[in-house]
Amino acid sequence: MARAKLLLGNWKMNKTVSEAKEFALGSKEIAAFAKANNVLVGVAPTFLCLQTVKENVADNMIVAAQNCHFENSGAFTGEVSIPMLKEIGVNWVIIGHSERRTYDNETNEKCNKKMVKLIENDMVPVYCVGETLEEYVNGKTKDVVKQQVRIGLAGLSKEAVKKIVIAYEPVWAIGTGKSATQEIAQDVCAYVRSVVREMYGEAAEETLVLYGGSVKPENIKAYLSSPDIDGALVGGASLKLDSYQAMLENLVK
Ligand code: 13P
Repeated sequence: MARAKLLLGNWKMNKTVSEAKEFALGSKEIAAFAKANNVLVGVAPTFLCLQTVKENVADNMIVAAQNCHFENSGAFTGEVSIPMLKEIGVNWVIIGHSERRTYDNETNEKCNKKMVKLIENDMVPVYCVGETLEEYVNGKTKDVVKQQVRIGLAGLSKEAVKKIVIAYEPVWAIGTGKSATQEIAQDVCAYVRSVVREMYGEAAEETLVLYGGSVKPENIKAYLSSPDIDGALVGGASLKLDSYQAMLENLVK
């Protein structure tokens, strides 16, 4: 079975509610084009903007949170739980983004707790993995990614593995304009899938694996033509409707 193609924008800490609403209202054409071309599209706004975006996008535009807590409620100041997201119809959550790993102590073990809870709640985790520049330079990419996948995906069922998304985002390529070459991206995404295969067998063939890191309209097609890259997780180039649309159009060309 051919895997779906997915373009997911990670807005990070960008856009006020009114800016997010403007994007949402303007994204109807993008959503229709994506539907007609069998591409999954989505955006991940800040918590504050989730509900507004959800209420103003087309039904097929995925709205993802950028994080969640693994407990349902409690004394966790500043956190947002899975039931809170579910209630407003948000069923996708990015976990383990490198910025959260760097600044917010998001460990592989913590990601695994979130992963398990998200699956229990029928949500789609988008699990980010990737090495730092230092690890890359020292030839540690595959060791790092293997550890991230093995711990992050521990204890799942094969059925769950078919529904999750893994995004390979080399930290040195994020927001730097220095995107990984197509060869590197394909090689590591194939490796990610092979680690999933070691853990869960053939279910790995259905896991969506994305590349992220300085993806833009000019380079998206090359990544998406690679056999193990099923889509892109995009920061900067997903913030404006015209570049989002250009990525989508180039992706299906
Ligand atoms: P950029 O596309 O801005 O490099 O960000 C990538 C990213 O971190 C997406 O999650």
